[in-house]
Amino acid sequence: MTQETLHETFVALLRDTYDAEKQLVKALPKLAKAADNEELVEAIRNHLAETEAQVTRLEEVFGIVGAPAKGKACKGMKGLLEEGNEAIQEEDKGELRDLAMIAGAQKVEHYEIAAYGTLRTLAEQLDLSDAVELLQQTEDEEKAADSKLTEIAMTIYESASDAEEDEEDEEEDEEQPARTTAVKSRGEGGKTRTAR
Ligand SMILES: [Fe+2]
Repeated sequence: MTQETLHETFVALLRDTYDAEKQLVKALPKLAKAADNEELVEAIRNHLAETEAQVTRLEEVFGIVGAPAKGKACKGMKGLLEEGNEAIQEEDKGELRDLAMIAGAQKVEHYEIAAYGTLRTLAEQLDLSDAVELLQQTEDEEKAADSKLTEIAMTIYESASDAEEDEEDEEEDEEQPARTTAVKSRGEGGKTRTAR
């Protein structure tokens, strides 16, 4: 394996990733509109700004290796975005759709983390330290975006289970007003939880 082969592999993956990021720049505004949870809308908007900067960073990397900044259709990203779109069409705006969108967005982030990890390793092998730094920066942003999505999903799960408990409590209050106090216990933070 020659340095030249490595260089070609690097540029090919760079072009694939460049196209993937550009597809994402187009898709994210639509995702932000389809989301219901405010935190999720904000996270998607933030990631759009980040993704635009990532496109610019890739253009800098193209400059470093002396290749024209030209994308090559990334089928992986296309497929992931198509699946994400299906989720939007299948669910009405609300918690379920948000969770489906988060699942899709996390697949996108992991796909990108894998691509940037490989690009960074190739840049290290090619002694392109400036490129390594740029690629590392993006990889870190993708990882942070992934963690943020997990955090938002947890908030949605918690609010859904709280709402369900409130509903159960109300039902019990209606059916057996005298028994409710006996089957309830005080949970953390003073929230009333139903004993199971
Ligand atoms: Fe990205």
